[in-house]
Amino acid sequence: MAEAIFTDDEVKQKPVHWDPYNVTYFSNPYPVFRRLREESPVYHNEEFDFYALSHYDDCVSVLGNRDDFISSKGGVLEFMKQQASAPSGMFIYEDPPLHTIHRRLLSRIFTPKRMGALETEIRDFCAQALDPLVGGKEFDFIVHLGTEMPMRVIGMLLGIPEEHLKEAQRVVDDNMRTEPGQPLAESGKGMTGEAYADFVDARIKNPTDDLMSDLIRAEFEDANGVTRTLTRAEILTMVALLFGAGNETTNRLIGWTGKLLSEHPDQRRAIREDMSLIPDAIEEVLRYESPGPYIGRTAAREVEFHGVKVPANSIVLSLVASANRDEQKFVDGDTFNIHRARHPHLTFGYGFHNCLGNALARVEGRIALEEVLKRFPDWEVDMDRAEMSSTATVRGWETLPAHI
Ligand code: HEM
Repeated sequence: MAEAIFTDDEVKQKPVHWDPYNVTYFSNPYPVFRRLREESPVYHNEEFDFYALSHYDDCVSVLGNRDDFISSKGGVLEFMKQQASAPSGMFIYEDPPLHTIHRRLLSRIFTPKRMGALETEIRDFCAQALDPLVGGKEFDFIVHLGTEMPMRVIGMLLGIPEEHLKEAQRVVDDNMRTEPGQPLAESGKGMTGEAYADFVDARIKNPTDDLMSDLIRAEFEDANGVTRTLTRAEILTMVALLFGAGNETTNRLIGWTGKLLSEHPDQRRAIREDMSLIPDAIEEVLRYESPGPYIGRTAAREVEFHGVKVPANSIVLSLVASANRDEQKFVDGDTFNIHRARHPHLTFGYGFHNCLGNALARVEGRIALEEVLKRFPDWEVDMDRAEMSSTATVRGWETLPAHI
């Protein structure tokens, strides 16, 4: 499916309207996001009953204020509407004290140092994916690299054997996939991590030196002041969280990198000539095409933005993909430019819940680009054959073939 591009006039014809499930907006939400910033910075969608904030500063105010904007009622629209509750340990959907306790525990194990030490393995996974394609005419950023490498990295971190990975991935994918234009049918299923149960049980019996074993052994003080280790259910939930949070998102980052550098061959050439530009290039890809378009919170009390009152208990979506292009923060926000002096995007969130895996995602993005460039110095994506994935929560490509 080719990406839909609208002229400003076409977008301006209707009163400003943003529906996260509308396939047209989904394929290119930026003209609508620009209008939201200009015409309706506190946008209320009556059909789905949510408020959307599109300015950078407003998103920062929400995400940095966990007293007034809580996570324990979910972060994804469907989940919030179903008023489902997440199992203990799914700390992306927890507030203090549980969030603080669970995040601190995982941070002790999931350190940037540990992530940085994975370079060699990440490079090997890239080589396994890319080497067989050298000498060919085509390669697919998603099919060959994006769906393979991040999954293997998490699998290795958690010690999930290769043969279990595909099944675990299938459960996560089934959980996220929607019919085009439709909300998720039953979000929340799959959060319990049952797909990994056999294997976690085996680790509980025979711990090794991997992250999962550290998680099993780690002692912490729980919300009742009791010092203990995690329950089996909590471990399964945290594994499900890591698998769910770190796979599809990083996969989409790899896809957007392929697409944007295909569309900007001058910037690709600059990177090839000076590979030290890669970390900046990845930051710019993250800013320009955030895999997650929004981050949801619930207002704990009535709040006010730009003179508009948002009632207590409202769903408030911070449109980080819009904030990342807010002209008040980024000069020429709609221009992809790896040479920007700073890229302080909100793609990994902001504040207390900011992405715990961001160091890992950045290493994976950097190494993926290095390894692609080493083998395929030039490429052109085939947009007529590319397909977007149909999830409203993580935006990106399902297939992205490139001529090499
Ligand atoms: C490009 C890739 C990634 C993107 C765009 C991304 C994005 C995000 C965002 C926006 C949040 C904040 C959610 C909120 O505020 O409610 C988050 C949280 C989180 N991410 Fe990532 N993520 C990525 C990769 C990863 C990876 C590789 C891992 C680990 C393997 C990971 C693990 C987590 C965890 C555990 C949280 C929960 C943090 C908390 O609630 O305190 N993420 N991520």
